[in-house]
Amino acid sequence: MTVRGSLRVPGDKSLSHRALMLGALSTGRSRVRNVLLGADVQATAGVLRALGVDLPALSSDFTFAGVGLRGLVSPASSLDCGNSGTTTRLMAGAVAGNPVTATFTGDASLSRRPMRRVAAPLSAMGATVVLPSAGGLPMTVIGGALHPTVWRTETASAQVKSAILLAALCGGVEVTVREPTPSRDHTERLLRALGADIAVAGTHVTLRPSGSIQPLDVRIPADPSSAAFFAALAALTGAEIVLADVCLNPTRTGFFRALERMGAVLRYDDQRDEGGEPVGTVHVSGAALHAAAFAGAEIPAMIDELPLLACVAALAEGETVVRDASELRGKESDRISAVVANLRAVGVDADELPDGFRVRGGPQHRTLPASRVVTHGDHRLAMAFGILGAATGNALEVDDRACVAVSYPEFWQDLARTQR
Ligand code: S3P
Repeated sequence: MTVRGSLRVPGDKSLSHRALMLGALSTGRSRVRNVLLGADVQATAGVLRALGVDLPALSSDFTFAGVGLRGLVSPASSLDCGNSGTTTRLMAGAVAGNPVTATFTGDASLSRRPMRRVAAPLSAMGATVVLPSAGGLPMTVIGGALHPTVWRTETASAQVKSAILLAALCGGVEVTVREPTPSRDHTERLLRALGADIAVAGTHVTLRPSGSIQPLDVRIPADPSSAAFFAALAALTGAEIVLADVCLNPTRTGFFRALERMGAVLRYDDQRDEGGEPVGTVHVSGAALHAAAFAGAEIPAMIDELPLLACVAALAEGETVVRDASELRGKESDRISAVVANLRAVGVDADELPDGFRVRGGPQHRTLPASRVVTHGDHRLAMAFGILGAATGNALEVDDRACVAVSYPEFWQDLARTQR
């Protein structure tokens, strides 16, 4: 199998959510190009509409008017966030800072995900948040008069950090968020670009009140988490690929650095700044890969790529170990147990660790036996094993191919195209 050519994967998911949300909270008309049209971003659009924002159908280039920081209205029914944790947690923050009452619901996977991590800081800021005893959805948020708060998060989470920042932004109060290690910083960059009073010092972020934020005019760069799949495929097959217009924010590019540490050759061209985010073209050349160990502060920068890293590790010579990644157990599925079970099913020697995994890989896995991959409806598992299957003789059957729709609807078509 050969991988050829160049590819522009769809717009970044994290930035697409934030562009819609901050445009909606701004004063004036925003223009957004290259928004991701996946189901997660559609969920954010639906929630914003239900909260009174006049948002047109999403397309590759559209404009819309914001309602201002305190212009959200209580929805007529519950807010269906589908599969999207980012929609739920960030919009819980925006609702907390508005005179609004809203109940967030979602699919079975999202309903099981931990929401106390946002309920606790939003309650400490003065909102009322009601959760079921298991701590998932439905979650009711009653926004109100907030007060200045300093909050220290237990884990690095951009969703929690952003929820707190959006609550303070809308509520008009000063807030400081401290994280154990830095998480993705798109919210901070975008807020700064829109004129908010935000200061970042290491792992501390302080936002001070401003009466309004400016509308935005952004072109969303390609999603590094989606580009990662094709970077991995090239790396695993000794091929070359060019990935265009990728967001190269260092809080997101940990997987590219991981591939380099495992022996792949990456080159970054045409580097530039777009709307406060570094963007560029990534050239990936494959090579014989070897194992490596990953832990600590490098984990948040590749948190969504760790299932893919486990699949890459299956073909990399030696033992790859990932630690400090217990967050994986609270994602769309328990990604530690799911990834290890699927690797074992095809004869790869892999173990779960409480906070990560161990995979002993090598070229003996270059051709894998036929197997049905159990995704639990998790898009990143479907795509990670789609890549492993493509790199090892196409004998893996993914049980739910359609679940990629939440972050990369064209994934299977792009995969077929790169192999032609
Ligand atoms: C995201 C943050 C990360 C990531 C998710 C998107 C965001 O979640 O896993 O896919 O856009 O803020 P956590 O903040 O929960 O780690």
